[in-house]
Amino acid sequence: MTGTGFMTGLRFLVLGAAAGGGLPQWNCNCSNCAAARDPSSGLAAQTQSSLAVSIDGENWAIFNASPDIRQQIQQTPQLHPKALRHSPIRSVIITNADVDHIGGLLTIREKQAFDLFSTSAIGAVIDANPVFRVLDRAFVKRHAIRLDEDFSPLEGLEARIFAVPGKVALFLEEGEPELGLEGEQTIGIEFIAAGKRAYYIPGCATLPDWLCERIRGADLVFFDGTVFTDDEMIRVGTGIKTGERMGHMPITGDGGSLEALSKLDIGRMVYVHINNTNPIWRNGAERDAVNAAGFEVGHDGMEIDLD
Ligand code: MLT
Ligand code: MN
Ligand code: ZN
Repeated sequence: MTGTGFMTGLRFLVLGAAAGGGLPQWNCNCSNCAAARDPSSGLAAQTQSSLAVSIDGENWAIFNASPDIRQQIQQTPQLHPKALRHSPIRSVIITNADVDHIGGLLTIREKQAFDLFSTSAIGAVIDANPVFRVLDRAFVKRHAIRLDEDFSPLEGLEARIFAVPGKVALFLEEGEPELGLEGEQTIGIEFIAAGKRAYYIPGCATLPDWLCERIRGADLVFFDGTVFTDDEMIRVGTGIKTGERMGHMPITGDGGSLEALSKLDIGRMVYVHINNTNPIWRNGAERDAVNAAGFEVGHDGMEIDLD
């Protein structure tokens, strides 16, 4: 149930389940994108990567500001203004500086107060581009958060960020970027409230042992589901990059996330940040394989309450 304001616990709302570009992507006519434009296909369009989190159902923290945030707010009654000028969005937290995670900051610029949390490295990327000065610091408080330190994006919500293997944002690449970099560029989030533990990791290049141990036994994990197989974009013919080169580990194949995560006694496993080329968007063997492992395919509007 949502919007009662009386419940406490961790409440998650997938605002955007797709990776950068969304589904359909504006310039793509792959079979998934074509299906997402066809109302009779049963495949609903999906917006770009973002997760909303609340404790009371009234106040929300938004993890990643996608370029689709205006549409996401529009299609999410919990995020509508409740007064002449108002927003239930109390804070925005950025997990990496890719366009799909920061582009929406330009939309939520209308002199509305909220807290913006990021690592110093991601904050520096935002600061380096003067267009983000539209986020008036008189209203938008900036907070640099440190790896492995607690912070509170909402009253009653304890969160912690940690480095996950990744790379610098695509638009900052110069030559061959370091892949599997563990630093402030790409982070995961740990949530703790009401005795529950959950994670949001929309971008992750590999699952080293330390990361598996960290998330072992969690009640809920939202995890990078960008590509089903490493060479998927090449095989579909939409690009020349592997998942690995994009900083995203595949779901299956060598070093796939499905097998590694299956062993970790996670209560609920949900793939998010799913690229438009990924076959798990549609019914078929790949989606069946994910479901057979007990994993879910995220979708816009998906709600999960941990009470
Ligand atoms: C990614 O997650 O790989 C990025 O969203 C790529 C991009 O910025 O288009
Ligand atoms: Mn992305
Ligand atoms: Zn496509």
